[in-house]
Amino acid sequence: MRPVRRPVGVVILAAGKGTRMRSRLPKVAHQVVGRAMLEHVLRAANAALAPATESPSADAEGDSTGGQTAYAIAYAIVVGHEREQVREAIHFTPPTGAPHWILQEPQLGTGDAVRAARATLTSLPTPPATILVLYGDTPLVRAETLRALLAEHEHTNATLTFLTGIADRPTDYGRVIRDERGRIAGIVEARHATVEQLALPEVNSGIYCFQADWLWSRLDRLGPHENGEYYLTDLIEVAVREGAPLATVSGSIEETGGVNDRVQLAEAARVLRERILRDLMLSGVTIEDPATTYIDAGVRVGQDTIIRPGTTISGATLIGERCVIGPQSVIRDSQIGDDCLALASWVEEAVMEPRSRVGPMSHLRPGARLTSGANVGNFAEVKNAMLGADVQMHHFSYVGDASIGARTNVAAGVITSNFSADGKKYRTEVGEDVFLGSDSQLVAPITVGDYAMIGGGSVVRRDVPPGGVAVGIPARVIKHRQKPEAEQPAEQAQDAHEAAAQDTIEGMNATDRTAMDRARE
Ligand code: UD1
Ligand code: MG
Repeated sequence: MRPVRRPVGVVILAAGKGTRMRSRLPKVAHQVVGRAMLEHVLRAANAALAPATESPSADAEGDSTGGQTAYAIAYAIVVGHEREQVREAIHFTPPTGAPHWILQEPQLGTGDAVRAARATLTSLPTPPATILVLYGDTPLVRAETLRALLAEHEHTNATLTFLTGIADRPTDYGRVIRDERGRIAGIVEARHATVEQLALPEVNSGIYCFQADWLWSRLDRLGPHENGEYYLTDLIEVAVREGAPLATVSGSIEETGGVNDRVQLAEAARVLRERILRDLMLSGVTIEDPATTYIDAGVRVGQDTIIRPGTTISGATLIGERCVIGPQSVIRDSQIGDDCLALASWVEEAVMEPRSRVGPMSHLRPGARLTSGANVGNFAEVKNAMLGADVQMHHFSYVGDASIGARTNVAAGVITSNFSADGKKYRTEVGEDVFLGSDSQLVAPITVGDYAMIGGGSVVRRDVPPGGVAVGIPARVIKHRQKPEAEQPAEQAQDAHEAAAQDTIEGMNATDRTAMDRARE
């Protein structure tokens, strides 16, 4: 394609009620692979027209830019009275400028919808010479297809160029009518078509390029059909009657499928999912079972990571290299570094630094941060909490609104009681190299100093100083431990650590028994 710098106006029609969806949500706001249908269309247009500004993730979605010269672009999105709901569903702004939101009220058909955008686009400082019309309900359209359409439009100097597809048994598409010499004669909507016309395999994709002046002036010539709607597709017949040059580009029907109901929504999602998984696999990610793996658009996964069966990865998620995710993991809006494991676990709005691991059967909730080498095992939950480097938290524990220092051991059943009777949440601060014994409860707000040790089953209500060994219900400090000298060889230090632990556990058991006996009395 030769470089072109003519300004292009992109009109995306998104005002239709979408009655066939049977939904309170506007049709184009329905999500497929994590993005509203309309956002897919907007991104495809942006990737086609402004390659230089598109993010690298677009390449992963098959929108390779091919070094094309960028067009000057203006976007107009035509929406109905649910425009706020539609706007809220869009989380992408083209780098070349935010779209103009145009209200079409009432919705009198696709021809009327394009007319609604006319005043805005013709009054721009540089009014576009070419208008690309897209429908917001065709989320499968690819950037390269749009580029091919524009190239054909410019190359043939046509008044109107549109994309067609060949379908085996087309359903509710408009049928492309050609004369005996194969020249375009018009488009007939399925609902108005004769039996012979319905049998035609070539359908209208709903993607068009127009010469702007021609389009703006001819829109007023459209008359309403008996249902009161003005069809954009009737412009093809107008052009034929005028003898204006027409061109078509044939695309794959899969790509131009309009989503009108939830069956088609699921079908579109399947196709997009296949594309995403294929791109990931070709980029060096192992996906053991594509049939049970669900990865949203925009998710990034590093080389040699293995995605095991039954896994769902969604939102703004970034996964590093050489990780193992799944089987049966659900990862949402999270960042996972290199060499991590997330086995049969839920990870939501969490950060896992390199070499950290979670699972099986655990839950990292929003605000959880596992520092490098931290290890969360089975049936554990971490929420709004930082686990320091190499923290070991192997089973049945809950750590919320907390910070746990490096190398601390969180034994089975440890719980931070962050929620107090006054209805507020309080923080737990645990230092480094602490030993939190099995089944201990830390009642926040509370601070446990470095190298402290909490006896099994203790309920800790008061701060524990560094090195403090605390036991009982409520736990009280019974003695102090000496931290091994830093210069001691590692083995000796370990011995001292273990001896101290053994010491404490023995003492503690006796004290605990007394406490429990007393409690029983
Ligand atoms: C339309 C085409 C049909 C084509 C098919 C491809 C017409 C008349 N028909 O049919 O030839 O095969 O798309 O998918 O164009 N919209 C508005 N305002 C309106 C009406 C619709 O903005 O007043 C928007 C809708 O939100 C939708 C798009 O235009 O995104 C297409 O409307 P839809 O009702 O889905 O048309 P189809 O029946 O699918
Ligand atoms: Mg449609």
